[in-house]
Amino acid sequence: MSTTTAVNLSHSLGLWDAQVSRKVLVALTGVILFGFVLVHMLGNLQIFLPPAADGSYAIDHYGELLHSKPFLLWVARIVLLSAVLLHLFFSIQLWWESRAARPVRYRKKDNFHSSYASRTMIWSGPIIGSFVIYHLLHFTTGKVHPSFRFLSVHHNVVAGFQQPLASAFYILANILLAVHLYHGLWSMFQSVGLNHPRYDFILKNFARLFAILIGIVNVSIPVAVLTGIIQ
Ligand code: HEM
Repeated sequence: MSTTTAVNLSHSLGLWDAQVSRKVLVALTGVILFGFVLVHMLGNLQIFLPPAADGSYAIDHYGELLHSKPFLLWVARIVLLSAVLLHLFFSIQLWWESRAARPVRYRKKDNFHSSYASRTMIWSGPIIGSFVIYHLLHFTTGKVHPSFRFLSVHHNVVAGFQQPLASAFYILANILLAVHLYHGLWSMFQSVGLNHPRYDFILKNFARLFAILIGIVNVSIPVAVLTGIIQ
């Protein structure tokens, strides 16, 4: 092997290594975000519980509990924000590199082979990002809420979703989130080397099932408010 070939090979291997580490980082930060979405969804399910005898709501107590430990709340927020930023930065970088490395743009024929979920990743991400910013202004700071009351989670959610436009945005964003989670989970299994022709079917369906579950539960909340099931 000539010196130039060896240098080229080690350069390519270095780039490949860096790309693999970044894919693993996108996967790991994705796990943190996925874990948050799952736990948040489980907590939000309490909105379906009827009020206690004293008229108080379980979800309001849950909100009080989360806010009763400001230090832990801020640690969780910082971890979450760092995960979001790293996830965004490296996934955009990887997407950009793979786009630049393509000699000719994908033709329709190639598009047919890449799944709908994978093709929507790059634009569903920014829509989900805008949703999260809107969501924080809606339910955390109350800046865009019609009648925000600090720690009255039940009231905030019901009054917030009684506005059809806000509910419509939540529904759209959560459908996109489900598609994003499906492809994200499946890519994560591949990035960390869990995929194998023998188990791919199981892993793909696991990702599909989880994404659908999260999508259905999240969409059911604005739908339940709009239809008067939650009042
Ligand atoms: C219909 C579905 C959802 C409902 C009803 C909902 C409800 C809420 C409520 C009421 C809060 C404020 C909690 C409090 O401060 O007491 C909150 C905070 C938050 N939600 Fe959601 N959420 C939903 C979906 C999502 C999704 C899909 C994401 C992420 C993709 C998300 C991310 C967050 C974040 C980051 C916070 C701020 C936590 C904090 O730092 O205080 N939520 N959500």
